[in-house]
Amino acid sequence: MLNNFPLWPEQASTLAHRVDALYIFLLVITGTMALLVCTLVIFFAARFRHRPGVRAEQIEGSDALEITWSVIPLFIFMAIFVWGAVVYFRERTPPADSTEVYVVAKQWMWKVEHAEGQREINELHVPVGRDVKLIMTSQDVIHSFYIPAFRIKQDVLPGRYTVEWFHATKPGVYHLFCAEYCGTQHSGMVGSIVVMEPAQYEAWVSGNPSGPLSVSGEKTFAELGCSTCHRPDMQGRGPNLQGVYGKSVQLEDGRTVTADENYLRECILDPGSRRVKGYQPIMPTFQGLVTDEQINELVAYIKSLGDNQSGAKTTTRAASQLSGNAQPSGNQVQ
Ligand code: CUA
Repeated sequence: MLNNFPLWPEQASTLAHRVDALYIFLLVITGTMALLVCTLVIFFAARFRHRPGVRAEQIEGSDALEITWSVIPLFIFMAIFVWGAVVYFRERTPPADSTEVYVVAKQWMWKVEHAEGQREINELHVPVGRDVKLIMTSQDVIHSFYIPAFRIKQDVLPGRYTVEWFHATKPGVYHLFCAEYCGTQHSGMVGSIVVMEPAQYEAWVSGNPSGPLSVSGEKTFAELGCSTCHRPDMQGRGPNLQGVYGKSVQLEDGRTVTADENYLRECILDPGSRRVKGYQPIMPTFQGLVTDEQINELVAYIKSLGDNQSGAKTTTRAASQLSGNAQPSGNQVQ
């Protein structure tokens, strides 16, 4: 009967039953309390109704009663808080070895780029039983990437990356909605998530002429001239990008940042804002010169670069000078 009249969407990810369990718990708690209050209101209204010759008498409060109805809800609320936090952090923390997919939103479509190089619009093909991380940005306004069957929803913002992840548990086709009002055709900004068996998915993803995203990124990296300054041999005018992804980076202003996708993106578009320690502010901005897709390619390329500087935890000019082989652009000092 529930299949003909489903109360909630299909559960098709590892997160779905966790979200639902918490939701059902909240419904039961609030439903029970609402029922209790309504019942007592009616009962007391009947029990203590006005009768001729009977006068209401004033009574003092009851400490025991007041403590009970304060302490019990406190424990219930704390349980809801802890439970919610556990589910939240699980939902917000993509597993380290997730398959990565880049999503670019625009009025009014979803553009998807797989790390393997496949591109699609308003469709996302993923394998069942694998962790998939979506790295998302918008070309214009705020959108929101919402897959009810997976119980995930995340705003997609212009100018930065946001991330969400899932682990699909059932092959099938699921709804994708934009869940943030984004203009006249917002309601048409929908698509499909196609969850495939692994073998089927491998066949789908390998039928791809353009090659991995990181390879396109390497080409773009060379075409834009990035490779003349960011050299792997530490002789460049810009930081060596080998293995920089995920590491902590010392900045000129003394702060330290983690070189995540957002930092790499920011360095391309606004290189002056959080400059690596020891480097001159000579890098031009690429704002307006590269598309969001190209930025994704560049980020995928930089992430693909291995670490040829084992043990180098930070990327700074000082660190490279200690290793004795770094001088800016050819003017060797003896
Ligand atoms: Cu995009 Cu609503």
